[in-house]
Amino acid sequence: MKSILLEMKNITKEFPGVKALDDVNLQVLEHEIHALCGENGAGKSTLVKVLSGVYPHGSYEGRILYKNKECEFKDIRQSEELGIVIIHQELALIPELSIAENIFLGNEQATQGVINWNETKRKTKELLEVLGLDESPDTLIKNIGVGKQQLVEIAKALSKDVQLLILDEPTAALNENDSENLLKLLLALRKKGITAILISHKLNEVKQVADKVTIIRDGKTIETIDAKEITEDRIIRGMVGRSLSNRYPDRTPAIGADFFEVKDWNVYHPIQQDRQIVKDVNFHIKRGEIVGIAGLMGAGRTELAMSIFGQSYGKKKSGEVIKDGKPVDVSTVHKAIEAGIAYVSEDRKKYGLILMNDIKENITLSKLDKIAKRKIVNEFDEYEQAEMYRKKMNIKTPSVHQVTGNLSGGNQQKVVLSKWIFSDPDLLILDEPTRGIDVGAKYEIYSIINQLSNEGKGILLISSELPEILGMCDRIYVMSEGEFTGEVSVEDATQELLMKCMTKSKGNAL
Ligand SMILES: Nc1ncnc2c1ncn2[C@@H]1O[C@H](COP(=O)(O)OP(=O)(O)OP(=O)(O)O)[C@@H](O)[C@H]1O
Ligand SMILES: [Mg+2]
Repeated sequence: MKSILLEMKNITKEFPGVKALDDVNLQVLEHEIHALCGENGAGKSTLVKVLSGVYPHGSYEGRILYKNKECEFKDIRQSEELGIVIIHQELALIPELSIAENIFLGNEQATQGVINWNETKRKTKELLEVLGLDESPDTLIKNIGVGKQQLVEIAKALSKDVQLLILDEPTAALNENDSENLLKLLLALRKKGITAILISHKLNEVKQVADKVTIIRDGKTIETIDAKEITEDRIIRGMVGRSLSNRYPDRTPAIGADFFEVKDWNVYHPIQQDRQIVKDVNFHIKRGEIVGIAGLMGAGRTELAMSIFGQSYGKKKSGEVIKDGKPVDVSTVHKAIEAGIAYVSEDRKKYGLILMNDIKENITLSKLDKIAKRKIVNEFDEYEQAEMYRKKMNIKTPSVHQVTGNLSGGNQQKVVLSKWIFSDPDLLILDEPTRGIDVGAKYEIYSIINQLSNEGKGILLISSELPEILGMCDRIYVMSEGEFTGEVSVEDATQELLMKCMTKSKGNAL
């Protein structure tokens, strides 16, 4: 019999106007991987923040027992002292510091008050090796993608003496390969005696590794499911209270004429200016068409999209963007928006939202003209429009006056989507649009994408989830090492075929 490592009893946590947790109970046994599942805004992140002392004792009701001892953490440091380490949903690394500096920040390797850099870097190297992350300890965080940043967060946790590792959506930003490695790592850590609490919307991964799943719905614990009973359908039933027979909504494509084209597009790295990131890319999109770009992390998909959207990425570009037969100027974000292009960033925190501002300001920001008269924002229109999107996108919040940073991860994603749909684009570029979104809300977002395409908009969908690409797109381009290495219609596409193109270079393209 495994013994009980952690018990959270009758936890209730309120924010102004929101009861995020309502009498939640959680029991975690030693050496198990315990998953927490629930819809966006169900209270998962809040629960683990209570556990780790982010929300200190006194700011919630209920009890926490760790190894049978009552815990009243005042801050995160106190929980870390007991070996409870949390990796947050929203990454918290400092972009201007190196990987090594980030890993040992607050836990400096020092002798007599002086930081021992050799030791810091040696230990960093060791950790990076364990994680299979091929980067130098000196590399700045801002120069690596979110996927790699996630691995650095895990390295940071491992550098502490961790017993209970809490991962809040660790694979949301990772591609399938890296996710797979991370899950293997979790299983290896379990063998070493580390217990994990795993929050994830990727139910296939939960099924793969979890020993138990506790379901939270509307701030309440619904049930805990045992390993042998865990199936995706079973989890979904717990989460939403019913089965979901189809993951992708039906759509009858109404595809019109070609209207958007990118020709001979070349982009170089912003700092290392000899490094070509996007190589001679050509593509076109028809009205009403949903076109996917599949590729591995680092293939250059985001860089391609951002360079088209107002030169938000890269230097020394060449190539042409043509819309409705005429060249268009996309040299600034403003001009790109004017040209009818919208880009939903994969990195919502950095590029997608102003977290300090409220929801209504974020939603309307992409096209203030729509709610302004003589350059003055009409606050009533702003409110009305934002309200409409709140209802349409089912954003879980007491009101659109709420500060966006207070929303749950998935609901923030819905605000970013609303913002760009509000700009009324002809071409909507979606970069990992359902990252961190629960299964039910994904369906809602897919329905919205379908509806936009039926209105004649072109959609460019960048996604690391191949089932999503296959389930949603009419046509798929594959990108590898900055080049397009394949183009397939959805009828001909299979995961295997796409994977093949994702890992090959142009020399032997389809
Ligand atoms: N600091 C805060 N201030 C006000 N409300 C908050 C705050 N943090 C969370 N909430 C609210 O509490 C509820 C639970 O949020 P939480 O982040 O725990 O959800 P979650 O289950 O982690 O969702 P997701 O899957 O989207 O990450 C949501 O309604 C959210 O808006
Ligand atoms: Mg969360």
